[in-house]
Amino acid sequence: MSWSATILTLYPEMFPGPLGAAIAGRALAEGRWTCTAHNIRDHATDKHRSVDDTPAGGGPGMVLRADVVAAAFDATRNGTPAYALTPRGRPLTQALVRELAAGPGVTLLCGRFEGFDERLFEARAIQEVSIGDYILSGGETAALVLLDACVRLLPGVMGAPLSGVEESFESGLLEHPHYTRPAQWEGLAIPEVLRSGDHAKVAAWRLERSRMDTRSRRPDLWQRHPDAADQSPSGAR
Ligand code: ADE
Repeated sequence: MSWSATILTLYPEMFPGPLGAAIAGRALAEGRWTCTAHNIRDHATDKHRSVDDTPAGGGPGMVLRADVVAAAFDATRNGTPAYALTPRGRPLTQALVRELAAGPGVTLLCGRFEGFDERLFEARAIQEVSIGDYILSGGETAALVLLDACVRLLPGVMGAPLSGVEESFESGLLEHPHYTRPAQWEGLAIPEVLRSGDHAKVAAWRLERSRMDTRSRRPDLWQRHPDAADQSPSGAR
């Protein structure tokens, strides 16, 4: 069975979208994952096919109706864990991405307008997930981000299996910078150690750069890393 992405949205034409190209697109064509988008509007019950209504208590915008979204959800249940993409959700991390990629797939609910009627999350096993502290026009692009992150981890999708493990966040550190030829460009040289052929020295330089860059660019990540408490020169500096 391939890893399945089931998407509930008002814009099914947005899927697979950019994930139909490049690495994810090849994996889709190879049948390593499937992508099925359902239109929430198909589960509306009135003659206007309405999916939203005004917020209780007043205020701007419209709210997605719990009854209509739940009907769409119930009709497409397939045993995969369900997530609604909303800016109020639990932050998406590489750890959650790994967990989702290791499972049978995901069902993703994409919000628009002011979001979903909160009772949806009380009545159904649907967790809210956010891809970051900014507001998108809808959950669809967030769902594409989540799917991209998962699909690249599926077996056989990435060329070099190790590269998924060595990169940023898997170690809790930002990845070290990369260089390639030419050795000199606009007066800028590739760091000498990377041209030395000494693999141990290269590894040590990369780890040190990862630590330094994480500490300066992402103090939040660094604080959570075991080396942050380390008083040795590389930890304390
Ligand atoms: N919908 C709107 N903004 C979002 C965000 N930052 N993450 C997930 N879903 C969203």
